[in-house]
Amino acid sequence: MSSLRKIDVVTLLLGEKRGQMPVKYCASAFAPSNIALCKYWGKRNEELNLPITPSLSISLGKLGTTTSVCLSPEPRDIVTLNNREMPATTKFAKALATFLDLFRPSPTVFFRVDTQNTVPTAAGMASSASGFAALVLALDDLFGWALSTKNLSILARLGSGSACRSVLRGFVEWNAGADEDGLDSYAEQVKGTWPDLRLGVLRLSELEKEISSRQAMKCTRLTSSLYEAWPIKVSHDIALIKESIETRDFELLGRTAESNALAMHATGLAAWPPVLFWLPESVATMRKIWALRKEGLPLYFTMDAGPNIKMLFTADQSDAITTEFPAVEIVEPFAS
Ligand code: PMV
Repeated sequence: MSSLRKIDVVTLLLGEKRGQMPVKYCASAFAPSNIALCKYWGKRNEELNLPITPSLSISLGKLGTTTSVCLSPEPRDIVTLNNREMPATTKFAKALATFLDLFRPSPTVFFRVDTQNTVPTAAGMASSASGFAALVLALDDLFGWALSTKNLSILARLGSGSACRSVLRGFVEWNAGADEDGLDSYAEQVKGTWPDLRLGVLRLSELEKEISSRQAMKCTRLTSSLYEAWPIKVSHDIALIKESIETRDFELLGRTAESNALAMHATGLAAWPPVLFWLPESVATMRKIWALRKEGLPLYFTMDAGPNIKMLFTADQSDAITTEFPAVEIVEPFAS
């Protein structure tokens, strides 16, 4: 495995721009959250967040993160999340400080980072993807790098893998790439919009995850006998999802995304120690969705590394979905 560190990639990518001072005092940017329809599950390089397979997501329109980065007025990083200062010892502040270290012109330059998540906290959606993407976009403006979308995507990936998809809107594919330095592993927009596509988020548990997606995918890749089937499944599913977008075939999109998510979770079950994110409520919701589908409601779901369920349907079914799931949070991915 390559021994390249994140800092080596940043140096490669920014060249002489790394080490230069910001060109302004403050900059701010928004990046949308994204939900994978074909999942990223397994890294070929843990340090650089390089994936074994490609993945394909949909971004969540207006829902995501707005981040502003300024030069700090004090000799320390100042970090706030939704207007609350986060002590330097918190996981959130530590992750930001480590990422900012990659870009500090000198160890005595500090930043003030204000993060606002517009993803409703009750929706239980991951914010690390939109968070790192918004931070990279804001840093690009602060330092005046004027990087290409490709390079912004690469930098966001160094923060968290799925963040590389959040620098773009709509349907987004993350090319796995094959290079050791990962300069060919970045996200690109997939042509096509789908204005009446809807996501319904069901938050089923307030509990903290027992295992991070990073740990879960590593344990699965190393110990699950089912993992070898995963890349084959992904190559089929990516092709089918692209076909469904081109032909606006909702049934094909839903079926493929649901089956992809279930296959991802199945690889985890065959890992040791076993990786299972589902709660009884998750299984009950899946059964309810399957029963409604049998009755003729075109409704599918996907799940990430947690117990919550994200349903997929079209706008004409919104009323029926709200009747069946009163707590649902409906997201319009293509709302401008
Ligand atoms: O980017 P990470 O390290 O948070 O991993 C995300 C993993 C999944 O959400 C399960 C799948 C995906 O493609 O987003």
